[in-house]
This record gives sequence, C-alpha cells and structure tokens, in this order.
Amino acid sequence: MSKNIDHLMHEDRRFPPPAAFAECAVARPELFERAAEDRLQFWADQAKSLVSWHTPFTRVLDWSNPPFATWFDDGTLNVAANCLDRHIDAGLGDRVAFYFEGEPGDRRAVTYGQLTDEVKRMANALESLGVTAGDRVAIYLPHIPEAAAAMLACARIGAPHSVVFGGFSAESLRSRIDDAEATIVITADGGNRKGKVLPLKPIVDAALRATDEQPAQSSVKHVVVVQRCGNEIEWMDERDHWWHELRDEAKPDHVALGFAAEHPLFILYTSGTTGKPKGILHTTGGYLTQAAFTHRNVFDLKPESDVYWCTADVGWITGHSYVVYGPLANGATSVMYEGTPDTPHTGRWWEIVERYGVTQLYTAPTAIRTFMKIGRAVPNEFDLSSLRLLGSVGEPINPEAWMWYHEVIGGGRAPIVDTWWQTETGAIMISALPGITTLKPGSAQSPIPGIAIDIVDDNGTPISTYDGGLLTVTQPWPSMLRGIWGDPGRFIETYWQKFGSAYFAGDGARRDSDGDVWLLGRVDDVMNVSGHRLSTAEIESALVSNPMVAEAAVVGAADDVTGQAVVAFVIIKSSHADGGSPADQSAQLRAHVAQQIGAIARPAKVYLVPELPKTRSGKIMRRLLRDVAEGRPIGDTTTLTDPAILSVINAQVH
Ligand code: WT7
Repeated sequence: MSKNIDHLMHEDRRFPPPAAFAECAVARPELFERAAEDRLQFWADQAKSLVSWHTPFTRVLDWSNPPFATWFDDGTLNVAANCLDRHIDAGLGDRVAFYFEGEPGDRRAVTYGQLTDEVKRMANALESLGVTAGDRVAIYLPHIPEAAAAMLACARIGAPHSVVFGGFSAESLRSRIDDAEATIVITADGGNRKGKVLPLKPIVDAALRATDEQPAQSSVKHVVVVQRCGNEIEWMDERDHWWHELRDEAKPDHVALGFAAEHPLFILYTSGTTGKPKGILHTTGGYLTQAAFTHRNVFDLKPESDVYWCTADVGWITGHSYVVYGPLANGATSVMYEGTPDTPHTGRWWEIVERYGVTQLYTAPTAIRTFMKIGRAVPNEFDLSSLRLLGSVGEPINPEAWMWYHEVIGGGRAPIVDTWWQTETGAIMISALPGITTLKPGSAQSPIPGIAIDIVDDNGTPISTYDGGLLTVTQPWPSMLRGIWGDPGRFIETYWQKFGSAYFAGDGARRDSDGDVWLLGRVDDVMNVSGHRLSTAEIESALVSNPMVAEAAVVGAADDVTGQAVVAFVIIKSSHADGGSPADQSAQLRAHVAQQIGAIARPAKVYLVPELPKTRSGKIMRRLLRDVAEGRPIGDTTTLTDPAILSVINAQVH
C-alpha cells in the first residue's frame, strides 16, 4: 500500500477542461457557490427543478434524530411517473429510452412510450397478484429492458424492490428473499452469458424449494417469468406466471399515485464485515433528486442529443442509479447490453459504441485494465469519435489505466470523471465535474456541490497533513441510506458509532496539497473484486460450511486486472485428509464457494495449510496472510502464538 501511495503522490499530469467543452458544459461553477451559501436550499432547488411532485414539500431535512434522516418528508411523488409519464406529457413518447442489444445480437429500441405502456400494464398485473404498497418484490433477471420495467412497475405501486444480481446462487437468492420477506419473484427463463444460456428460473425454483437447510415455506406466493432464452423450465401452475401473458391481459391504463418522499423505493443487499449481507434501504424523494442531479451534471447530459451508456448490471447500485433511475428521470437515451465484453469477440463494446454513436461511457477500472491487456489494436478498429465523456466507478483507477482510457478510448479528448460512491450513498458523492475540474489521473478529486466530507484519524480528528486517514461524510445527503432492512442496531453500529453524526464509509483516503481526494481502498474486512464488494467473513463461512473444512481465512490480494483477488487459506479436517489430492480438494472448494454465493465470489486460489497465523487471543491475522499472498516480506509476527507457521505457509504458496 505505501508503495502505491508514494506512486500516486508523484502523479503530476493535469488535464484542464477543453475550452469548447467548458463553454457548453451542463455543470456551472455557480453550483459550488450556491451549495456553499446554503446547502439545504441548494438541494431543495435541485429537488424542485429535477423532480415532479404530486404534493410539493415544505420541509427539506430533518436531522433531529441522527442517524435517521428525512428529506422533503411532507412532499409526495411517484418515481415511475417521474421517469416515464412526465416525459410522455412533454411529447417525448417516441424518444428512445434504451437501445437494447442482447448478447446473441438481437436488438430493439425501446421508446419512452413503449416502456411506459409496459410499466403501466405490469403495475396493474402486480396489483392483480395482490401486491400492495409496502410489499417487497424480489427481481432476479438478466440485464434486459424488462428488468428496468419490473423495477419501475414496483416503484409505481409503492412496492419496494430487491434486485438480486443474476450471478448469485440459489442460497444467496433465498437468504435475500427471506430477509425481505418478498412475496413475489420476477425472473426470466434464462439470460445469455458468454455465448451460453444461463438458466435463472431453475435457480429460483431451487431457492424456493424446501430442503434440509431451508425447511420452512418461503414467503413467495407468485413467480413471474420473462421469456428470454426459450430454455426448458419446470412450471408450477398455481405459482408461476408468464410476464408476457400478464402484460397482454392487463389493463393499459394505470394512475400513478403520489407516495411520501420517505416511502421505501428499494432494498439492495451488499456485503459487510460479517457473513450476513446487509439490506441497504433507499427511499424516494431524496434518492431521485441526487441520482438525477449527479447523472445530469457529472455526465454532462444533453438528453436531446446524447446516447449514454453505463455498462453496470441492474443487479448493482450503479445499475439502479445510473442505468434506471438517474437516466430515466432525466429523459436520457441509453444503451443497454446484456452480455460480456468479449462475446463473441473482444471488440464487442467498441462495436456497440460505434453502432449507436455513444457519447458517454461509464464503466469500471477492471474492464479498462482487461482491455488494456488485450491491447489498443482492438478498439482502434472502431470509430469511437462520438465519445465525449468517460466515467469510472467501483475502485480506484490507477493512473496507467486512466491514461490508457483517456488516450485510446477517449481519443485524448474526452474528460474522465472518476466517481466515488457506494451502495449506501445511493448516488455519486466525490467526482470531478466535467468542464469545471482540472483532471488528475487517479484522483476522485472533490465532493460534488452539496456534499461535505472529511478525512479523519481513528479518533475522529480531522487530518491536517497529507497522510492517509478515514473517509467520512460529515453532513446528511439526500440519497443517503435510510437504514439496514430489519436491523437498525447494525445500521448505527456499522456507519455511525465510530464518529457520532459523521458517516463512516469504510474507505481510506488522503488529500493532496491542492485538496484533491485520493481513495486508498477499504480499511475493513471487505474486498473489492472487479468493483464488486465481497466480505472475507461471507466467503469464510461458505468455506467452513463444506464438511471437509475445519477452518478458513480469506484475504483480498492485489491483482493487476480485478483490483483484488479472493485468496483462501484452508485447514482440512484430518478425517478428510485422504479425500483427494490437494489440487482436487482446492478445486472442489473453489466450486463450493461459487455454488454457495455465486461465481463472483469464487476464490482465485485456495491453499490447504496445516495451521493459520493467530494471536494469543485466537484472532486470525489476515494482514500477514495478505503479505504472503502478495509476495511481500512478512510483517511483524511477534504477537503470533506460533510465528514459525508463516514460513510453512509461505513455502507452500511460493
Ligand atoms: C466501494 C463501494 C458505487 C458503485 C460501485 C461499487 C469502492 C467505489 C470508487 C472510486 C475508489 C471506489 C469503495 C467503496 N469505490 N467507487 N471511484 N474510487 N474506490 O459500489 O459495491 O457499494 O462498493 O467501492 O471502496 O466503499 P459498492
């Protein structure tokens, strides 16, 4: 880490905004002045200008009972009407909302008019299945327009959705369904991934089936199935319904009612420091305000002419805020692509940029580093001259990847916005504003207007030097999480206990002499693999659920492409010592984790070791295992019960 920081600090390249860009940029420097003068008035102005209200609000923020905030709480609105109906009313029904491209090459342009029709019908259909405001709906779909339609249909009737990424296992899906007590699951027969059909409905069936581990009947009464791949699936007549049949039978008209600004919009599960994922709760008015504001200003959105593409899946917060809610609230035209970047060829993304004339591309550093490895010859074959802005999210972008992105993809012309935020923050918090900020490769730069942050030491004292510290958000913000579903205690303990009324993000950060912010990675037991958050505890508990495992320790080791890679150290029970070669056993354990949690959590390496490094109080010292995994000299081992164990482990790894 210290080598990285040193390296970052010597970054002295600067990219001032090109004059032509600055001249017609959406974000104006006055935003900063207005927010500094009166932060709450600033957000109230954004809420009034970017969101349509059924009942206007008169109150902005109530922070009298921290950390439980309310924003705009006497206002009412309908999020789906904001994303759809008001654009139709403005005569934009023929504007394309999504240029959808399936992985096999099927294409369709979905207009605002068509999306509105689909959402109204599905809102009626969900109501006819008994869903009422406040009921939770689980969504387990591929990255297809029906995913956005399903989310909006839920929002329209005030039923909070819980989208579960299509790569998660039956076990992960079931635990999320149970935690939220969802009554409906919306899924598809399958999705397309790497040239194959990834079955989804069978995973839903498995998740809902009673087994030894999950004997109780689930809360789910109905399963709605989008026909996507035509793969063979089982059917339970009394429980399962085809999406297209419900839609075609449903009434086309649906009146969008106003819901209170603090009505729950969605729950999205994310990993924390324990084995149990947290259901992050977001509400309506503040969330939509900040999602729309950041989408417009950070991405310089000109909705009449732009074709915007955020490559994230709807299963993650980036997909919620910057594929669905932000862009649709702003009346944007987006690209939505179902598949992987290298199917059927490594130029697929660039072909899509060329085909639709994409103007803004928002993606993750891990993707950029993968393309960098393949080489510039592939993107160079395509016309990328339509791109005028690039975005990055999910993990720190190293200056080398930044420069490559800037030159090879952005033609040296397009500004890059490196956006820091989290599932919990709901929307972008720290980022350059294009046309205003002089860019520095590798730095997320400054909090956006209306956001207040600080970097503090372990006692909460602001750090005055340029040393690294802990990133906090010092004032409540409109799209902040409102809690952890069903667990207010964990909400307080995780984010607020450490620094009182300041929000603790779990990230390390530092400021440089210009005051720009550099993110330094997680400071807790959370890993960041390809921009996806995974907890060491979650993977450890998946490993020890395998009968051959006695004990397990998981660390995130630096990886050139994915940022971090999951590396596991496992002690096999003596009763299973003869259960196959070490190579076989570690392959079995890698597959076991993928089956328990999902393929994203599959460890890159599983080392079978005789013992784990522990302190006298029995705490596993993951820091030392990280040294081993990253091939560094091993740190201080004096507090270990048995310092010799590290040389044994080290010899095994290297
Ligand atoms: C964690 C949040 C926000 C959508 C994607 C991930 C890391 C995110 C950046 C960035 C450095 C970043 C942080 C954060 N992170 N963006 N631009 N620079 N780190 O959402 O799964 O909630 O993860 O991702 O560590 O805490 P998430």
